[in-house]
Amino acid sequence: MSLDQQVVHLKHREGSEGGTRYIAVASGKGGVGKTLLSVNLGKCISDTGKKVLIVDADLGLSNVHLMLGITPRRNLTHFFFGEATFEDILVRVSENLHFISSGSGILELAKLPKDQVLSLIRRLQELAEGGYEVVIFDTPPGIHEDTIAVVSAVDRPIILTTPEPTAVADAYALIKVVNREAGTESFSLVVNKVEGEVEGRKVYESIRLLTDRFTRAKVEFLGSIRYRKNLIRRIIDQDPYDRVFTSDVYNILSKMDLGVSPKRRSFWDTLIGRLFGR
Ligand SMILES: Nc1ncnc2c1ncn2[C@@H]1O[C@H](COP(=O)(O)OP(=O)(O)O)[C@@H](O)[C@H]1O
Ligand SMILES: [Mg+2]
Repeated sequence: MSLDQQVVHLKHREGSEGGTRYIAVASGKGGVGKTLLSVNLGKCISDTGKKVLIVDADLGLSNVHLMLGITPRRNLTHFFFGEATFEDILVRVSENLHFISSGSGILELAKLPKDQVLSLIRRLQELAEGGYEVVIFDTPPGIHEDTIAVVSAVDRPIILTTPEPTAVADAYALIKVVNREAGTESFSLVVNKVEGEVEGRKVYESIRLLTDRFTRAKVEFLGSIRYRKNLIRRIIDQDPYDRVFTSDVYNILSKMDLGVSPKRRSFWDTLIGRLFGR
């Protein structure tokens, strides 16, 4: 076991009291590695013995299941139309790692009436609080109301970018909008597809220059993930756990605060409050 792995195991043992911990991974731009990071975070945390649920919050176009090579026969759409129970749509990747899929390209879900969305969220809450120590939200790219709601409901959202200037600009824009619209002040930044830590830190510094100057947001650097040439091949083979990628994820996890902080409002109340303006 690497040092980072040991730290993560220890931290998880310490932070195992008092409810469910929520993690959200978001980005301004698509294709930066959110799903891959969510899946790897889920794997690493569940390997410490915790029960982890990944929620594919990308209602429009989900792909967690593609990466894991599991195609659930039923998804949220079936649940909505009464053709499946919540238990039916839960996918057990391993004993400690489960996920809920929204199905692929189901755009009508995003347009459902509010009371149905609310009842879905309450069911998710029951599920999360009933059986999981960590819940990871993989969000769709861009700045939508739903994403802002999820991102602002966690203690310290993870904003993911790559060194590409367009991705950096979009990451900054996302932080700025979430800070302004939802008042969220603490953010974590992860830079993916870097050559090394130096490049990641440079990207972080360039974003911090802007956030310090033009926003009230405080952005901390959680670390970077190296670019891996053969990752696409692995994903095609549906084995998304690259050794170097995983070791970078452990490094990131070792710097995360893994305890559950006593927040004023619960994750779910904040989420619903933001979605429905209460
Ligand atoms: N560190 C990395 N090295 C090489 N390729 C990567 C890396 N991270 C992500 N990718 C590639 O980027 C693609 C998009 O990743 P994905 O997680 O689907 O992004 P998102 O969910 O943000 O749209 C993946 O198919 C993968 O091939
Ligand atoms: Mg994705």
